Amino acid sequence: MKQIAPSVLSADFGHLAEQVHIINESPATLLHVDVMDGVFVPNISFGFPVMESLRKHSTKPLDVHLMIVHPEKYVERFCDAGAWSVGFHLEAVDDPRPALELIRRKGVRTCLTINPDIDVHRLDPWLGEVDMVLLMSVFAGFGGQKFIESTYDKIRYVKQQIVQRGLDTLIEVDGGVNETNAATLFAEGADILVAGSAVFHAPDMSEAIRRMLQ
Ligand code: DX5
Ligand code: ZN
Repeated sequence: MKQIAPSVLSADFGHLAEQVHIINESPATLLHVDVMDGVFVPNISFGFPVMESLRKHSTKPLDVHLMIVHPEKYVERFCDAGAWSVGFHLEAVDDPRPALELIRRKGVRTCLTINPDIDVHRLDPWLGEVDMVLLMSVFAGFGGQKFIESTYDKIRYVKQQIVQRGLDTLIEVDGGVNETNAATLFAEGADILVAGSAVFHAPDMSEAIRRMLQ
C-alpha cells in the first residue's frame, strides 16, 4: 500500500493541534516526527513535550526520525512517548544493534536511515534486521530542500535486495517529495513518502496528499 507521512516539521507550530486535526481527516497513514539535536545536524527542532502533544492530538501513528547523536540514549523514551516507529541514522552510530534492540524490546518498529552521501550498500547487512529503511533524498536538517535525483538508484537497489532476499522491509523516502515526483518514487519501490512543505504549505493539505497518492 502506498503511504504518505506528512512531516510536522513544516507545520505552523502556533496552530499545531489544528494542523494535526486536518492530517487526521486526510488520507495520510502516518505522521512523521523529525527530531534534531543541533549536533548530528546543524538545526534544532523539538523533543518530548512536542512529541507528547502530537500523541494527544494525532490519530495517525507517529513515525519518529531521530537526527541525533547517541540515539541509544533516547530511543526508549520516544517509544514510551507513543512512537509507532523509531528510526535513527546508521552513520550516527558505530554499531546500530544496541539502539535497535532497545526499540524492538519496546515492541516498536525499527528503522535505519542514511543521508544522501552514505553508500547504500552499508544498509545491506541490516535489511533483514529492521522493519524499514529510510533513504534521505535531501541532507537531513531542514525542510524545503530540493530532491536529490540519485535517490532513485538507491531505491531501486534496496528494492531489488528486499525482493531477492524475500524480505518485507519497507522503504521510506524523505526530503523534497512533492506531487511531481511522488508517482515515480512509488513506482520505483518506495512504500512510504515523507512530505513536509508539499503538504503543510499546500492550500489544501488533504488534496495535496491525495494527489501524491494518485
Ligand atoms: C529533513 C527532514 C524531513 C523534512 C522534509 O531533515 O528529515 O522529514 O521535514 O521536508 P520537505 O518535504 O519539505 O523536504
Ligand atoms: Zn524526516
